[in-house]
Amino acid sequence: MQRAGYWIVIGLWLAACGKEESAPPPLTAPSTAETEPLFPVENMMRGAQLYQEQCAQCHGPEAQGHPDWENPAIVAAPPLNGTGNAWKKKKSELIAIIRNGASRNGMPVMPAWKGRLTEQDMEDIVIWFQALWPPEVYDDWREANAAPVAPQGLSALAGLAR
Ligand code: HEC
Repeated sequence: MQRAGYWIVIGLWLAACGKEESAPPPLTAPSTAETEPLFPVENMMRGAQLYQEQCAQCHGPEAQGHPDWENPAIVAAPPLNGTGNAWKKKKSELIAIIRNGASRNGMPVMPAWKGRLTEQDMEDIVIWFQALWPPEVYDDWREANAAPVAPQGLSALAGLAR
């Protein structure tokens, strides 16, 4: 009698297992990554154009920077494509540099865009050059900044672009 009970328990257990195994995977709502556009295309297109008009002559058409940007003896625009230091800055800091320009030893080396570009223009330019960042760079940046404003999926695009 005791033994039969034992087998019944095992049987039920096996039945339960089998049931679990054959059950279809739980249905979940598609994640936003699947339903939303991967990146804000319109902003990026605007940003790309503005960048080519205003920034490319110094930072390079691919945002690759001047080849000698690391040479402290000369003033040369750094890359914005994720191979320089731009990714170490918060978005607000990047925008602030664009807005206010940059100087070294009191000498302006990058013009200020305040009044010539709108805040939206500057934002779109950042969206564009962030799309060039390698996925791991973008992920590091996002982690470091815990930036809820970060555009979704740009790293995926950067991955595709490579
Ligand atoms: C006249 C050349 C010139 C133009 C035009 C120019 N920049 Fe720069 N930019 C520089 C230089 C030089 C630096 C480095 C400044 C420094 O060393 O402090 C720089 C730095 C930056 C940085 C900080 C990068 C970092 O690694 O921290 C950003 C962001 C930036 N520029 C964006 C832009 C954008 C966007 C535009 C166009 C709207 C633009 N720049 C136009 C010369 C230029």
